[in-house]
Amino acid sequence: MKQRKTILSGMRPTGKLHLGHLVGALESWVALQGEYENFHLIADYHVLTTNLDSSGIQANSIDMTIDWLAAGIDPSRSPIFRQSHIKEHAELHLIFSMLITAARLERNPAVKDQVRDLHIENITYGHLGYPVLQAADILLYKGELVPVGEDQVPHVEISREIARRFNTQYGVVFPEPEPKLTRFSRLPGLDGKRMSKSVGNTIVLSDPPDAIQQKMRGAVTDPQKVRKNDPGRPEICLVFTYHQKFNAGETAEIESGCRSGALGCVECKHRACTRIVDALTPFRDKRAYFDAHPGEVEQILNDGERRARLRAQETMAEVHAAMKLG
Ligand code: TRP
Repeated sequence: MKQRKTILSGMRPTGKLHLGHLVGALESWVALQGEYENFHLIADYHVLTTNLDSSGIQANSIDMTIDWLAAGIDPSRSPIFRQSHIKEHAELHLIFSMLITAARLERNPAVKDQVRDLHIENITYGHLGYPVLQAADILLYKGELVPVGEDQVPHVEISREIARRFNTQYGVVFPEPEPKLTRFSRLPGLDGKRMSKSVGNTIVLSDPPDAIQQKMRGAVTDPQKVRKNDPGRPEICLVFTYHQKFNAGETAEIESGCRSGALGCVECKHRACTRIVDALTPFRDKRAYFDAHPGEVEQILNDGERRARLRAQETMAEVHAAMKLG
């Protein structure tokens, strides 16, 4: 019996990561490193499902790798690798695509949301198959747990169905992966809505301190707290959420100061900002190191890809044997 469960975590490389990624995903990935065996996938092919322009993918993958390393992912313990560099993803995706109906994929609420949000009129075959490729990502490494937010749970459910279908058809090769919901859900963005690059309401992890200060100054607070001494409602204020996350020791005082009107938004934001800047300082330093050593990053990816490929090849050998494909 294997000692530790396997985690497969993944993200699409769409640019520099923001505070929401750190709090919603990266912190838990780092925390899980000791307890589980981790594989960290850069889902670069998945980018093509919503954007055919591939010119930025390579640079974004490197940037994301640096963000992961700076956040504390230890590549000697957990391989970091690009999906496109391991051909077995494409092969397993093809086999899996036979094991699920088009109707099932059309019912997937996560893809439906995307079609609505991005105003897609005619979905491509590959986009519809997004969760099938994701199932291949997870099952190629026999991932048992997948750290995801609420919105990704339907995708993981499809992975489970595909694993089950394969196992009944050809013999048991795959585990049925389970979502591992990240504990602290995503931080709100500077406008109070979900933090997202496309909305432009993010604090980017690599932002210099003065950029963070400037962004924080523009953060939306309780609209009823117009003047400094008006009482505010911390429970609806995104800045208060930031305090809860980055300034746990002072939240009680901030909360009562806000409610009574003793604490104005300008000072409150300033204090939150100072804590965020402090929290990100080690991140920024580590990031600067890797930015200055691109060869090392390349080496980390090559090494991660070598290790991931070995595991992927082992799984594909089992798949071929189960399917009697020689
Ligand atoms: N679907 C994920 C996202 O949009 C990215 C992803 C691709 C992924 N393959 C994965 C996540 C495998 C977890 C496991 O963020």
